Amino acid sequence: MKALVYNGPRDVSVEEVPDAAVERPTDVLVKVTSTNICGSDLHMYEGRTDVEPGKILGHENLGEVVEIGSAVDRVRVGDRVCLPFNIGCGFCKNCERGFTGFCRTANPGFAGAAYGYADMGPYAGGQAEYLRVPYGDFNCLRLPPDSVEKENDYVMLADIWPTGYHATVLADVQPGDSVVVYGAGPVGLMAAYSANLRGASKVMLVDRQPDRLKLADKIGAIPINDADGSPVEQVMELTGGEGADKGCECVGWQAHDPDGEEHPDMTLNDLVGSVRATGAIGTVGVFVPQDPGGPDEMARQGRLGFDMGLFFQKGLRMGTGQANVKAYNRQLRDLIAADRAKPSFLVSHELPLAEAPDAYRHFDARDDGWTKVVLKP
Ligand SMILES: NC(=O)c1ccc[n+]([C@@H]2O[C@H](COP(=O)([O-])OP(=O)(O)OC[C@H]3O[C@@H](n4cnc5c(N)ncnc54)[C@H](O)[C@@H]3O)[C@@H](O)[C@H]2O)c1
Ligand SMILES: [Zn+2]
Ligand SMILES: [Zn+2]
Repeated sequence: MKALVYNGPRDVSVEEVPDAAVERPTDVLVKVTSTNICGSDLHMYEGRTDVEPGKILGHENLGEVVEIGSAVDRVRVGDRVCLPFNIGCGFCKNCERGFTGFCRTANPGFAGAAYGYADMGPYAGGQAEYLRVPYGDFNCLRLPPDSVEKENDYVMLADIWPTGYHATVLADVQPGDSVVVYGAGPVGLMAAYSANLRGASKVMLVDRQPDRLKLADKIGAIPINDADGSPVEQVMELTGGEGADKGCECVGWQAHDPDGEEHPDMTLNDLVGSVRATGAIGTVGVFVPQDPGGPDEMARQGRLGFDMGLFFQKGLRMGTGQANVKAYNRQLRDLIAADRAKPSFLVSHELPLAEAPDAYRHFDARDDGWTKVVLKP
């Protein structure tokens, strides 16, 4: 089959590789029809992880079941399914409590497994013609008949919508809250969209990419361009000097200033500054325990100059981590089915798999107009 393979920093190519197959009785084999490029893929693409050359990337996958293992009970050949980017077993201590992003079975020695990702287990990604889905009954979210026409909506259930939603859950967004989101990439846009769905009274979205800020405006969020001045001050002005009730971090450790210089602590400290006393912060942007390519020694050890004093003084709280996609994907699917949500608003490009290397280049450069790429293998 054809698949998108990581060769080294900023070097990916579409290669002929051995077909994905059912390897265990609980596996399901999916013919991939949509698979997104994610901001998380860019951390690997830029050589900022220890992902091994030869890895097939792709963790935002949707497709049709073409084969099932002998121990699969519920999923059937022909079902159209969306796969959470996390691989969960369904029976470990964490999966049982709904923390499927921290499965203890699927990636022994580590809490959490995923398709096509550094440190997340041996699993191949879905930027390919076929994908092996472990623990198929648990991991496949079956889709309704309208999934053909709404495929670009449903594929957002694999990662970025549940992840954006998770940021609002970690930040405890309540009806009437004002919310500031840092990062207007796909994840931040979906966090802002989710905050609105949860009844926020005001949603502010910080970035400096004009196309992404335009989308923020389109979904009813107030765009804040941090190239125009301190985002903390702009949030203060918009909230009567008090700060936002809640905040979401949707950038991660590669946060940079508008000139492109990286400051891994930047968004976290901007959040501490712009969320009001006793507020809460949800951090879903990725932070890593080691970063050999980091800008200084602290950063290389995964340490940050975090404003702990101000954080404590304001009585803030913060939740972090990978999104437990399965905790939300079924309910969010039903919002799409009922035409109450349309997350495909952020799709800018639909491309064949062969054009994936070029798409990686554009998305990595945050070229104007490249907000979200859906590949159609
Ligand atoms: N926790 C999870 O389960 C999970 C899942 C998916 C993605 N992620 C992570 O979420 C983050 C965002 O993902 P994405 O797909 O939206 O990525 P992206 O790279 O497309 O978007 C990031 C955005 O942040 C902006 N940005 C950079 N520095 C900033 C700053 N200082 N202030 C404000 N904005 C700034 C960039 O301009 C860009 O638009 C990444 O770290 C990704 O790895 C986490
Ligand atoms: Zn993703
Ligand atoms: Zn598990």
